[in-house]
Amino acid sequence: MNTGKGLSSQDIVRLNREYTLFSWSVQSTVAPIPAVGGEGAYFWDADGKRYLDFSSQLMNLNIGHQHPKVIKAIQEQAATLCYAHPGFATEPRGLLGEKIAQVAPGNLKKTFFCLGGAEANENAIKIARLFTGRHKILSRYRSYHGATHGAIALTGDPRRLSAEPAISGVVHFLDPHCYRCPFGWTKQACHRECITHVEEILQYEGPDRVAAVIMEGVTGSNGIIVPPDDYWPRLREICTRYGILLISDEVMSGWGRTGKWFAVDHWNVVPDMITTAKGITAGYVPLGAVIVSEPIAAFFEDKMLWCGLTYSGHPLACAAGVATLEVYEEDNLIENARAVGARLGARLEQIKVSHISVGDVRYIGLFSVVELVSDRESKAPIPAGVMKEVGASLKEQGLFTYMMASPQGSMVFVVPPLCITLEQLEEGLRSVEKALLISDQHVAEK
Ligand SMILES: Cc1ncc(COP(=O)(O)O)c(C=O)c1O
Repeated sequence: MNTGKGLSSQDIVRLNREYTLFSWSVQSTVAPIPAVGGEGAYFWDADGKRYLDFSSQLMNLNIGHQHPKVIKAIQEQAATLCYAHPGFATEPRGLLGEKIAQVAPGNLKKTFFCLGGAEANENAIKIARLFTGRHKILSRYRSYHGATHGAIALTGDPRRLSAEPAISGVVHFLDPHCYRCPFGWTKQACHRECITHVEEILQYEGPDRVAAVIMEGVTGSNGIIVPPDDYWPRLREICTRYGILLISDEVMSGWGRTGKWFAVDHWNVVPDMITTAKGITAGYVPLGAVIVSEPIAAFFEDKMLWCGLTYSGHPLACAAGVATLEVYEEDNLIENARAVGARLGARLEQIKVSHISVGDVRYIGLFSVVELVSDRESKAPIPAGVMKEVGASLKEQGLFTYMMASPQGSMVFVVPPLCITLEQLEEGLRSVEKALLISDQHVAEK
């Protein structure tokens, strides 16, 4: 078992805490896991404690930890050419571009490479504005698009608030969230205002002033919100009607996560751009991408693409990307996401029946969440203090996952690597069920 360079767990944590800043945290409260090694769906800390990874780190490590093929590709590329000027042509960049064009839907053909999801969205905004000559961008409230200024302006959730005023021209709309329908409908009596109000907002904003609508393929960190089947097709139709570009942010929902290459593939919708990152290299080396349609690519044949980054098309990242995409195919990971995902969905439905604190379960492929409520009637979220105890139980049991406790909802995410087996899934769900006894007890005592 690889335990790193020999620093004790205390020293690793101390150095990190003393000399580095942690994201989205009050610094004095962070208690980081001193991670030193991993394999497949597991990783371990400097004390040798092993964790089952139920969130693929930050929903990016889709192929699991330390896949030998990707490690080898990175090592070989490092030994050949670590870096090249972004204006140069390199083998890994060309091969990755070609591979992406093969798996991306419809006429999505050319890729602009960047370093992560936020940068992908920053560049997509610029491309949309250059291509259309329009300024406004529409995005949804229950969304996350990244932490840089433009991307956080697109973001609808409260992470946006501390950055405001960010960039101009972003207008938010409401979500197709059937469990907490913002229009008050039930699934049985739904009028799809989640679609029609977008058209109404467009009329107020002036459709000829709107460059793009950007939405997560399936909403991720705001709670795995899977839209109704006609949602993406009807939004596609509205955008086409007004000459507005449709952008699918597949940073989290892309690369097999939902059981297809991209989430929009479930509804046979071809957006004008896909922005992505995370699973493109499974996080082994940072990489982001904006995949644009043929007409957008053609537009820039004789016009300047006002986008640039020192690390655009980084050879090491592109080599990791080529190998990662081959792993998805060779290891049948997308099929596995579908097969194990089917079991996951069935198990989550059982969990909902047997635990009174579970208000809703939402899932597609290996992209899922358990939403916890104090009371099924009012749907009041389980309080943050109780969620903390649930999290402590999971950690103690050796299960690592992403959790959320906010007025928008209290949630335990189940987003394991796509290589997870049925046995490993069951092992993790047993830990989740044990931890849910804590939230169940909170509900019972109310
Ligand atoms: C849907 C979505 N878009 C964009 C981002 C931002 O990506 P990054 O953190 O790589 O900048 C994320 C990150 O979680 C995301 O989930």
